[in-house]
Amino acid sequence: MKIAMGADHGGFSLKEIIKKHLVEAGHEVLDLGTHDTESCNYPVYAEKVAYAVADKDADLGVLICGTGIGMSIAANKVKGIRAAAVSDCFTAQATREHNDSNIICLGERIVGPGLAMRIVDTWLEASFQGGRHQTRVDMICDLENN
Ligand code: RB5
Repeated sequence: MKIAMGADHGGFSLKEIIKKHLVEAGHEVLDLGTHDTESCNYPVYAEKVAYAVADKDADLGVLICGTGIGMSIAANKVKGIRAAAVSDCFTAQATREHNDSNIICLGERIVGPGLAMRIVDTWLEASFQGGRHQTRVDMICDLENN
């Protein structure tokens, strides 16, 4: 899979760890920054990754900031994006299966690297279940069109 990644200074270190993990697992990673721990603004990277996914330059996206929350709020402003801030494996699986999330957002200040890698693996291995969940995702898409 081609996975777009982005982080602010609060998520940079975890981005590097997850990137290495994904590349070792055979994925292609599109790293859209940031590239160091200098203070920066998370919406810049949320926008880059959200458009990469929305424009189909990448299959899915991973965004990391201090909490994952700012990234998810920003990414969800982009049409077609369903970004979920997650800090456990149960919700990682559920948000793929039920919400068809196309970006996962993690908080470097919330989850350690071992759990973060497990969360991302769980999310990537899960699949959207469709059916009644498709109806609900369609309703979310309708909200975007109004
Ligand atoms: C940066 O200090 C921090 O606000 C940011 O990484 C993120 O947690 C915002 O939601």
